[in-house]
Amino acid sequence: MTPPTNHKRLILIYLLLSLWLGLLALPFLHAPSWAGLPILLCWGAVTLRLLFEVTLNRHRVPTLATSFRMCQKIVAVLQKEANPAAKTPFKIIDLGSGRGGLAHAIAATLPNAEVTGVELARIPYLESVALQRLFGPRNLSYEQKDFWSFDCRQADAIVLYLAPVTAQKMGEKLARELKPGCLVLSHTFPLGGNWTETETLTIHTPFKEKLHLYRHP
Ligand SMILES: C[S@@+](CC[C@H](N)C(=O)[O-])C[C@H]1O[C@@H](n2cnc3c(N)ncnc32)[C@H](O)[C@@H]1O
Repeated sequence: MTPPTNHKRLILIYLLLSLWLGLLALPFLHAPSWAGLPILLCWGAVTLRLLFEVTLNRHRVPTLATSFRMCQKIVAVLQKEANPAAKTPFKIIDLGSGRGGLAHAIAATLPNAEVTGVELARIPYLESVALQRLFGPRNLSYEQKDFWSFDCRQADAIVLYLAPVTAQKMGEKLARELKPGCLVLSHTFPLGGNWTETETLTIHTPFKEKLHLYRHP
């Protein structure tokens, strides 16, 4: 039997959560009250995400956001790397930027960097653009594109949080395209191809997440 992919696991988790919250919400559907509103809202949000993952997420990379602790670590690594006195902005690309939480945190902390999020799925892309229009920062932009055809040659740093097979394949694309010295930070999944990790950081979250660091030769 083949093991379930991360995407299937995520769908299973959303399904179980939706069933559980649905059971909790049932009495409030029969007798509506303000006390039941938070449960109904959570149930609605989880069920909508479940429907999105099952019907619209055709490329099967889970649309999970990077945790707060991991965001902090990624931002700290990039802060050390970017020279604030440099004449040209430090270019950072988030490949598969989802709803933009990580890209936003990076751009907000590094005002001299130029951050681009690349996201294929329309709904998270539109959410991220709406948030950027409302709250900035101005050094952040998004492109709704397939990252396999996105040109990464200008990047000074790449961040990614994908799925095991996608990260393996992405290693080959990045090895062909990146300029010498470019830094790659891969959340959880190691890159495939001829990459040698310069460092692996463990983030002390309940899941002991790993951040894989690489430098293009
Ligand atoms: C795990 S989420 C990471 C979101 C964000 N980078 C973060 O760390 O919070 C991965 C994202 O990659 C996107 N994705 C998957 N395949 C893609 C492709 N071929 N082109 C662009 N985005 C893609 C998915 O839609 C999903 O939003």
